[in-house]
Amino acid sequence: MTPEQNDLLCRVEGDAPMGKLMRQHWLPACMSEEVAEPDSPPRRVRLLGENMVVFRDSEGRVGVLDELCPHRRASLVFGRNEECGLRCLYHGWKFDVNGKVLDMSSEPEDSHMRGKVNARAYPVVEEAGFIWVWMGDPDNVGEFNAPNWSSASEGNISIMKIHGACNWAQILEGAIDSSHSSSLHSSNMPTAEDVSGSTATETAWLRPSADKSPRIEVEKTSFGFRYAAIRKPIKDADKQDYVRTTLFIAPFTAVIPSNDQYHLSQLLIPIDDENTYFYWIAWSEDPEKGIGQDAWRKFCGAEVGKDVEPVTYKKVRNYDNNYLQDREAMKDGDFTGIYGIPCQDMAMWESMGKIADRSEDNLGTSDKAIFTFRTQMYRAAQSVQKGGAAIGAGSDALPQSKLISFQGMVPKGEDWKQYNISDEERALREAKAHSKAKREPAE
Ligand code: FES
Ligand SMILES: [Fe+2]
Repeated sequence: MTPEQNDLLCRVEGDAPMGKLMRQHWLPACMSEEVAEPDSPPRRVRLLGENMVVFRDSEGRVGVLDELCPHRRASLVFGRNEECGLRCLYHGWKFDVNGKVLDMSSEPEDSHMRGKVNARAYPVVEEAGFIWVWMGDPDNVGEFNAPNWSSASEGNISIMKIHGACNWAQILEGAIDSSHSSSLHSSNMPTAEDVSGSTATETAWLRPSADKSPRIEVEKTSFGFRYAAIRKPIKDADKQDYVRTTLFIAPFTAVIPSNDQYHLSQLLIPIDDENTYFYWIAWSEDPEKGIGQDAWRKFCGAEVGKDVEPVTYKKVRNYDNNYLQDREAMKDGDFTGIYGIPCQDMAMWESMGKIADRSEDNLGTSDKAIFTFRTQMYRAAQSVQKGGAAIGAGSDALPQSKLISFQGMVPKGEDWKQYNISDEERALREAKAHSKAKREPAE
């Protein structure tokens, strides 16, 4: 990629086209649990280089306002959250969840400012464990497209959150890179002979294949793309393939293959050009399956207060301390010596630099999905730059709640693209094929 294309792909701050593209989607501002209780402490949230404050008022309503008070620009994060509003500490102005000034305590009763000044408030939706915010045109708020884990049964959504000290796109490229799981995560995803698909234990995900160089096949879709990583299985390799599909739902969601206990989705949310929130969601629609919140964070090595700092979600094992890599453990057979799948990933992503220089890398055949992501997304940013619609948004967006990945054995000769497809996507596919056939009539 040229440096210009790399900037188009990665940068989200200010007027950057990718930031404008993301503003045409609802963005997760934080997890619901970060402002769990009415009148609990407000939280600072930074998205696309802009600072906001999130708070839950006495009646449980959530507000997202610009962080700085419209009076003289002090931070509302320090404010008092009580009696249905957030009160700035500096001169006592108080705001409701819609940004309306409830009290202008430093001004006389007849002040000309009353009724004219408000805090900027963002439209908010609370769903599926997250507070979602609309940072785009306030006069043209897009329809909320619930994520696939909104199909989970009651209480069956577990979320891990960690801060990544690098650009969102190199983290996303890790989420759509099946081949690295056979090396980087090989100690956590070991080969097992007696399983027919990905099988979760308390400490590992067993896998019925030892193939480290999967064949990658990509299918572009209206929401982004879907790809299959096709591996030789241990058993009956002449009759079947072990297939794992991953979905990229533009601009920032990846749905990676499930195991026998839970589905797995990821959100790679740009804090700014050089920092990202990495959310990993384990969920199940089956109340008998899934994994509890504490067990999930323990499995990931992302327990709050132990592996990540409270509030900031910054990692205890990080670039400055070489992720506390244990060379003795490596001698004893642990592939990386780094604890936890996300931390192993972070060591790779953050070591590339704040924004990876993509003019210097050498993509191979196993990087087909990475190549597709780069070209699809910098072109999508170019299109927004020219005034076009954002990829994955608007009227032709498929319901995300129906988008799911696939993993399992596929008999040789069968098409993996037919597996785990929603009726909506099948209909859209057929309509597209039909209009293509009409445009190109047979001779
Ligand atoms: S700066 Fe907030 S009330 Fe004055
Ligand atoms: Fe990974």
